[in-house]
Amino acid sequence: MKLILHVWRQKNAASKGRMARYEAQANEHMSFLEMLDVLNEDLVSRGEDPIAFDHDCREGICGSCGFMINGIAHGPLPSTTVCQLHMRSFQEGDELYIEPWRAAAFPVIKDLVVDRGAFDRIIAAGGYISVSAGSAPDANAVPVPKKSADMAMDAAQCIGCGACVAACPNASASLFMSAKTTHLGLLPQGQPERHERVLTMVAAASLELFGNCTNIGECEAVCPKDIRLEFIARLNRDFIKASWVYRQERACGADILGCRRLSSRRLEFLHFLSRLFYSFGDPVDRQVPK
Ligand code: SF4
Ligand code: FES
Repeated sequence: MKLILHVWRQKNAASKGRMARYEAQANEHMSFLEMLDVLNEDLVSRGEDPIAFDHDCREGICGSCGFMINGIAHGPLPSTTVCQLHMRSFQEGDELYIEPWRAAAFPVIKDLVVDRGAFDRIIAAGGYISVSAGSAPDANAVPVPKKSADMAMDAAQCIGCGACVAACPNASASLFMSAKTTHLGLLPQGQPERHERVLTMVAAASLELFGNCTNIGECEAVCPKDIRLEFIARLNRDFIKASWVYRQERACGADILGCRRLSSRRLEFLHFLSRLFYSFGDPVDRQVPK
């Protein structure tokens, strides 16, 4: 199968990039990255610079790979990372435009490789638990309701690939953050930092120049791990509750909603409202052991 590729080439972060045209040969059993490997071997044999792209496991697990194919993050196949995308999804003679993730928070390092360190800094800000989890407990020693465990597992599928940011017109990291806060917030071990976590992660995302979520849904459409938009609703609920209950300066050094200026009576009232609000929320929330 012969394909025409237009690939973003950029020498380094400081230089200007451009699209370069290549003719590539592939067979239907190759993965997309293998097709690029073959093209790179050809480029190297001709003394040209190979196309730089991130990859590691090539099994859809590690989150290293990812770029836009014809404007779609990870390419045309839903729920699939680009390393798991095979050439049988394309036709002889297809013309493909391959570009890196585009977001201010993900600067291009070279060709299709972007710096996703911003995600690491968001995780460092709050995506952890401080309790000692010890060694693996007996399966039923820690009571976790089945619905909570299932949803936490769904959220834990996020591999931090960044496709959600690249697809979002606001370059929002909300789907990524919501996967992390949902995963940890549904389990007993994640409760001690549940509210601090959401405040510090959202504050860190703002500092990294990610945009806000405006419920467009492009992130969910391209996510290779089917992280659901409803997790962003959970993130927002946790954020509202945390903002009402805590003084922001204690959690993240920022007075995000102006709580510093609120009287304790007003805070108590907001706390009451937040509990009321929560009681109409997702029933799974009410199953989380406190
Ligand atoms: S939410 Fe989905 S698209 Fe976003 S980083 Fe996680 S796996 Fe990738
Ligand atoms: S290379 Fe690991 S998910 Fe694609």
